[in-house]
Amino acid sequence: MNLKPETFRQIDEVITHYPVKRSATLPLLHLIQEDAGYISSEAIEWVAAKLELQPINVYEVVTFYPMFRQKPIGRRHIKVCRTLSCALMGGYKTCEAFEKEFNTHRGEVSPDGEVTVEFVECLASCGTAPVVMIDDDLHEKVDCARAKQLSDEIKRQAAGRAAGKVASSG
Ligand code: FES
Repeated sequence: MNLKPETFRQIDEVITHYPVKRSATLPLLHLIQEDAGYISSEAIEWVAAKLELQPINVYEVVTFYPMFRQKPIGRRHIKVCRTLSCALMGGYKTCEAFEKEFNTHRGEVSPDGEVTVEFVECLASCGTAPVVMIDDDLHEKVDCARAKQLSDEIKRQAAGRAAGKVASSG
């Protein structure tokens, strides 16, 4: 399975915290989703083998919890906080601004494959609401205007990447 070496290290470590291996199912799935963006059928089989379970046992966990995604996400992951402070300060409008910019809807991959926009719970920066996480970077006080700026930046980077590909293939 294709994960960062650090994720494999964390997986091995987490398993040692549980006297019964199967109890590590949830934490393992969280680690994999954090790294890969979703839980593939390959991941389900891999976790099952790792924890000496049947794939169906892991599959049941993945389908039971709504936080697990079974489809890939966009290249960039935009997570908008929707917990109290951020909701009061306009987090919903911020989320809509990103959706509009990328012509997408929460939880779906944008038509160009570039982003997935999602709501998440408190990102522990409530004093600077509304807060947005783009990949691993936290952005504070993201109103609609700032959401537009951040979207423009993502689009510029995507265009740069596309131009780089054309140049290297030409
Ligand atoms: S409520 Fe949004 S960061 Fe805490």
